[in-house]
Amino acid sequence: MVKVNKIKDNIYQIRVIDKENKNFHGCIFPVIDGSSYAFYLIMDEQVTLVDTIDDIYYDEVLPEIDKLLNGRKIDNVIVNHVEPDHEGSFALVMKDNPQANVYTSKAGIKAMQEQFFKEYNYNVVGYGDSLNIGKYNLLFMETPLVHWPDNMWTYLQEEKILFSNDAFGQLLVDDVVYDEELDKDKLLKYSREYYANIVMPNNKNVKALLTKFANVNWDIELICPAHGIMLKGYIKDMLAQYQSFANNTIIDNKALVVYESIWGNTKLMAQSIVDELVSKGYEVKSYQLSKSRISEIMDEMMDTKLLVLGSSNHNNCILPPVADFLERVKATHFENRNGIVFGSYGWAKIPFNDLKERLAAAKFNILTEPIIVNYTPHQEEEKTIKDEIAQVI
Ligand SMILES: Cc1cc2nc3c(=O)[nH]c(=O)nc-3n(C[C@H](O)[C@H](O)[C@H](O)COP(=O)(O)O)c2cc1C
Ligand SMILES: [Fe+2]
Ligand SMILES: [Fe+2]
Repeated sequence: MVKVNKIKDNIYQIRVIDKENKNFHGCIFPVIDGSSYAFYLIMDEQVTLVDTIDDIYYDEVLPEIDKLLNGRKIDNVIVNHVEPDHEGSFALVMKDNPQANVYTSKAGIKAMQEQFFKEYNYNVVGYGDSLNIGKYNLLFMETPLVHWPDNMWTYLQEEKILFSNDAFGQLLVDDVVYDEELDKDKLLKYSREYYANIVMPNNKNVKALLTKFANVNWDIELICPAHGIMLKGYIKDMLAQYQSFANNTIIDNKALVVYESIWGNTKLMAQSIVDELVSKGYEVKSYQLSKSRISEIMDEMMDTKLLVLGSSNHNNCILPPVADFLERVKATHFENRNGIVFGSYGWAKIPFNDLKERLAAAKFNILTEPIIVNYTPHQEEEKTIKDEIAQVI
């Protein structure tokens, strides 16, 4: 569903809400409600498009763009981020507007050349540059590796609007236009899951960016992201939340027990571990990977101090869902976290050291040797599991 929202007399948001698209960013990020994608059109003396959209939506958005253009051509295309969900239809836009000037970061040009194999009227922009398009001036700021090298922001000075592309996005699929129409906690929650899965691996760059941003003195009344809802009333809250994420804020007594289990033995161990952690005052959440949404677990990981990770022995290897989870954990570069591993086996204790080593390689501080049980934990073993946990937490 395409919706055009008029932001100012001559500024429009074009947004696609796709409730059927339950996999944000391809296959890696399962979402509950679907996805939304937005880009912006400024009808000044020079018609300026801020980003485009995934080419799968181009046929849907083109009639809306044409209606707004009303016979005019696009003079400028600002490319804030060269990822297919934003620039997938760039080449199609340029086909209809071959004379248009393209403004992007230095890294953006390289990324475009490697994806489009064609030269356009490229102009490198960055912090300190401005582009006059008539009554408005656009300023730019590179936001490198939040989350790709080419990312940048565009700021419309006269209207105090920040076009932030992926930054400050949310996985919120709702017809409302501005944040104030929604409950603040709900909006921030959706922003957090988005951050955990898209931005958290680059958390250090966010910290540097927020410091730089605090010094540029851009007064902001509206943030126009490429995903989710535009921010007007909750800008301060969103920035505070980003600062908290960037500071790697951790809850010391929060633990996640994450595991996979074929016949329920490792699951029984997980239950004993949860009971022990709860009895010691921990705030605990427990997830069996094959029965959970991985994006939600990554969200919960953001402020978790202790990860207790379990797998049974599957052909002398850890179970595939656990390996998948470990890759995500490693890629996210968590800091100052503790880890314990556990699991059940039938006739060989082989993969548990590997499990421990993999978590250690993800920079987790491993609190103890693997806690393991042969087949089904009996009462005595349940007590041993609890004792082993109690000794190290
Ligand atoms: C397909 C399959 C392969 C297995 N391979 C091994 C193995 O190589 N070595 C071993 O010690 N146990 C192996 N087991 C036994 C399980 O590790 C054992 O039954 C364990 O208690 C299962 O725990 P779970 O119910 O938490 O998955 C295998 C079990 C299955 C179903
Ligand atoms: Fe992106
Ligand atoms: Fe995106």
